[in-house]
Amino acid sequence: MPLALEHVRRMRGGAQSHLMRCRRTADGPDEYYVVKFQNNPQHPRVLVNELLATRLAARIGLPTPQVAVIEVRKELIDLTTELAIQIGMGRVPCRPGFQFGSRYPGDPALITVHDFLPDDHLRDVENLADFAGMLVLDKWTCNTNGRQAIFFNEPGRSGFTAWMIDQGFCFNAGEWNFPDAPLRGLYARHRVYESVRGLHTFGPWLERLEKIDWRHVFDEVQEEIPPEWYDCDQDALFRLLDKLNTRRRIVPELIEEARKTYRQPFPNWT
Ligand SMILES: Nc1ncnc2c1ncn2[C@@H]1O[C@H](COP(=O)(O)OP(=O)(O)OP(=O)(O)O)[C@@H](O)[C@H]1O
Ligand SMILES: [Mg+2]
Repeated sequence: MPLALEHVRRMRGGAQSHLMRCRRTADGPDEYYVVKFQNNPQHPRVLVNELLATRLAARIGLPTPQVAVIEVRKELIDLTTELAIQIGMGRVPCRPGFQFGSRYPGDPALITVHDFLPDDHLRDVENLADFAGMLVLDKWTCNTNGRQAIFFNEPGRSGFTAWMIDQGFCFNAGEWNFPDAPLRGLYARHRVYESVRGLHTFGPWLERLEKIDWRHVFDEVQEEIPPEWYDCDQDALFRLLDKLNTRRRIVPELIEEARKTYRQPFPNWT
């Protein structure tokens, strides 16, 4: 498991995450992760949501950062005043222990990551069609936030690569329920859905979703997710996984409902 060695900088966003330099072994290479802490202002369960939903997204072939459980020790927090959560006028130190980490694409000194691209530049994103695939994941998991992605130039490539980030509000954040609504989970710029021609465009991801070995997901989740992230409530976690399993079959309907809205997210659906 990566161990955090140094705080690099605070990131934007409601979960108040921090970019941190980490290593898996004392003499291993540096790895950089955007770390969300257990006592983030949103909910401890957003760490579960991030790890579980990002793993599921990767399993159906979507581009995500590598994700990991990161250890952040008390000594580092005590030595780093920046490692605190701001709540109103007050500040509390980040809680030491196991946190969620989303791997930064390479060395932050060398690679610039963009949260947004202007519409014209979206054409330069090499994997733009993956936004359609990500809607399969967001509808399935009832992501109650808009879809978020990062964009960056991989060395040696001319276009941008998009990675899907911020799965914290999948399963409705700390609620772990599924208040489906037609516009939920869509990306704000509909240009990313230009490749959608009909339900068949979503076919490859829907097929992989159908084929997920659910037993395996169960085992992986139990092995990897620290119980303190969900208050050791195994029943709630199992209910969530059961519900997810059965929701797989309603995803096409949920996509159809998004299509019918006044926002018309899929201009080329025929
Ligand atoms: N793997 C990553 N690589 C590079 N940057 C990242 C990565 N993950 C997150 N970020 C950056 O950190 C910021 C905060 O991440 P994220 O959106 O997951 O947190 P959040 O606090 O939940 O945000 P929100 O307020 O949208 O809920 C993002 O805007 C993005 O710039
Ligand atoms: Mg966010």
